[in-house]
Amino acid sequence: MTAAKNHPDAETLAAQALGRIDRETGAVVPAIHSATTFARGEDYALIGEHIYSRNSAPTVAHAEEIIAMLDGGVGAKLFGSGMAAFTALTETLAPGVHVVAPEVMYYTAQDWLRRLKAQGRIDLDFYDQSNPETLKECVKPGETALVWVETPANPTWDVMDIALAAEVAHRAGAILGVDSTCAPAPTTQPLSLGADIVMHSATKYLNGHSDLTAGALVSAKDDARWADIHTIRNLTGGVLGGFEAWLLIRGMRTLFVRFARQSETALTIARHFEGHAKVAGVLYPGLESHPGHAVAKRQMTGGFGGMLSILVDGDFDAALRVATRTNVFVPATSLGGVESLIEHRRSIESPESTVPANLLRISVGLESAGDLIADLEQALGL
Ligand SMILES: Cc1ncc(COP(=O)(O)O)c(C=O)c1O
Repeated sequence: MTAAKNHPDAETLAAQALGRIDRETGAVVPAIHSATTFARGEDYALIGEHIYSRNSAPTVAHAEEIIAMLDGGVGAKLFGSGMAAFTALTETLAPGVHVVAPEVMYYTAQDWLRRLKAQGRIDLDFYDQSNPETLKECVKPGETALVWVETPANPTWDVMDIALAAEVAHRAGAILGVDSTCAPAPTTQPLSLGADIVMHSATKYLNGHSDLTAGALVSAKDDARWADIHTIRNLTGGVLGGFEAWLLIRGMRTLFVRFARQSETALTIARHFEGHAKVAGVLYPGLESHPGHAVAKRQMTGGFGGMLSILVDGDFDAALRVATRTNVFVPATSLGGVESLIEHRRSIESPESTVPANLLRISVGLESAGDLIADLEQALGL
């Protein structure tokens, strides 16, 4: 007989949405609270914990508790998008501080940092995530306030050693923030590796069904910065609504099983096309050939994820043609949903984009690996 466990696994808690059975009705699915305001009793004290939905609300708070549990943080805050979460974090920075971010990262978040720099609000340097030494060279002890990591990073899937980045950041007196959108909790928990703040575009894997836009911040500490993030969300109003929070709760109940399957299928696809006659290269952290494989093996304990890129053996037009000829893959941006997506990344990024012209970004969904491979074969072969 095995001893009873004191604490259920995160997978169990996520599947049961923290096990909140409605006491009045017995419903096993949480109700949606759409109220924007919350009543007071005869003594004028609040009946519940909430005042007004821009500040906090029950369904949003439930989703936040699940995310905080998944990432092992003191709390989570949900926003109307991943970008709203990211900009709330940068809003906590004192004017003129130094920020260090990766050369390769989600381009809109990078655009935001460039904008802050152009406005003189921050000093900014970029490092090469594939060469951690460049991070050490970039940080300015006493001046750097935020070191940013995105791992694996869009769209080359560079892998950064989070524990190493935390050490470098902390030695310089900075905090470490990690965009873990493509490596959610089933595979990586940045806070346990020393990060101070985790950011997710919950639009992606956390929700997983391409039917809502949301973002989350999770904090390691209940400190002044965390209180400030709550204040900023309340002041700027970028909070998530109750319906979206409910959809997100539903999505997160299947996060572990979706992520495991997407990782497995992505690895099968990556292995199939590595060395393929029509393919110049495959970028996937799960391949031994990927420069970040050794760190990924250590850091991505629950699979290498569903994101990979294929470098077509051809030019801009050849790659773009492939993206228009798939039948199973949907040609669309975004990632982490149940349907597989293909995207010619260079076509949609800003003119300064350094993404290879022959790169196709693939988000693997839940279709059969056989159908996905056959679809790419026919699109490459045409
Ligand atoms: C890695 C990453 N971070 C952040 C974001 C921004 O999230 P959202 O679109 O929810 O604002 C995205 C969106 O594609 C992303 O891929």
